[in-house]
Amino acid sequence: MLSHLSHDILIREVGLRDGLQAEQKFVPTEDKLSIAHALTEAGLREIEATSFVSPRAVPQMRDAAELVDKLGQPEGVTYSALVVNRRGAEDAIKSGVKELQYVVSCSETHSQKNVRMSVEDALGQAAEITGLAKEHGLIIRTALATTFGCPYEGKVSYDRVYELLDTLFSLGVQRVSLADTAGLGNPQQVSELVRGILTRFPADGFSLHFHDTRGLGLACVLAGLWGGIQVIESSIGGLGGCPFIPNATGNIATEDVVYMVESMGVSTGLDRQKLMDAALLTEKVLGRELNSRQLSLARNHQCQTHEW
Ligand code: COA
Ligand code: ZN
Repeated sequence: MLSHLSHDILIREVGLRDGLQAEQKFVPTEDKLSIAHALTEAGLREIEATSFVSPRAVPQMRDAAELVDKLGQPEGVTYSALVVNRRGAEDAIKSGVKELQYVVSCSETHSQKNVRMSVEDALGQAAEITGLAKEHGLIIRTALATTFGCPYEGKVSYDRVYELLDTLFSLGVQRVSLADTAGLGNPQQVSELVRGILTRFPADGFSLHFHDTRGLGLACVLAGLWGGIQVIESSIGGLGGCPFIPNATGNIATEDVVYMVESMGVSTGLDRQKLMDAALLTEKVLGRELNSRQLSLARNHQCQTHEW
């Protein structure tokens, strides 16, 4: 059912973490800092900046502590860090980060490949990490990976998602990102699942996170927004891809989501020109073209600044 979007939305930027983690070539800390500053200049206030994980598993994030230290804590901006175990959580807390993002997968196989742990063990650890976060006054979020399907195990039932959400909230997790890690979701499924979730849990507990692997990312965003979700995770330039998912592609691009919702009259509070500057800077840093629609339009000179 089509409906009117009556609420503003918040974009949670994940390019520096979900985006860069798949980049083979190490991006120098100073360049990550420049991208972060361009993002905050554009008005982004929630930014997943890095992960405190094994540098052997994800070499790109080996400068996590240095990056968090240099980012500091600008007024009104929350930099968050992904952690997958207690050691990562302790290191992240030591670095001064104010928000932890943990991850639990709906799929056993993906859980094993991503964090070498069963889902049950990951939930057990969620309790520990949540406790640690609370003790230090940190916000604790969890990404529920493969919510919309797993490339190894296929469909994930809605009941499985509800059951995992029940457990996570009972452990004290404050926010959950419903993550379409492999880009397998479709708008109908998003609509049904969001409806089911919001009859069970409060809307402000959730964000949606889509990869555009099959070109359905923006359609899924819209289905989620129409369903009542208010926070969308996306990455500048459409960077991204999980190193533990075959043929993973990027997240939906921040500038494309912003274009879509603002053209519908919905505010994101972001400066669109400065967002493009951040996307162009990211391309420059990586030395290659990124594939957001807004960037391709700008490249083809079909779009004047004021139009997008
Ligand atoms: N920070 C830094 N190093 C860590 C670490 C952390 N939080 N946790 C583990 N390590 C190191 C260990 O010291 C060990 O190093 P070594 O081989 O030099 O001795 C190595 O990682 C393996 O540790 P181990 O405890 O045996 O873990 P494992 O092999 O069972 O699992 C993970 C390793 C899960 C810690 C690792 O695969 C990982 O960090 N994965 C990242 C997943 C990720 O970022 N996914 C992103 C998508 S959500
Ligand atoms: Zn992702």
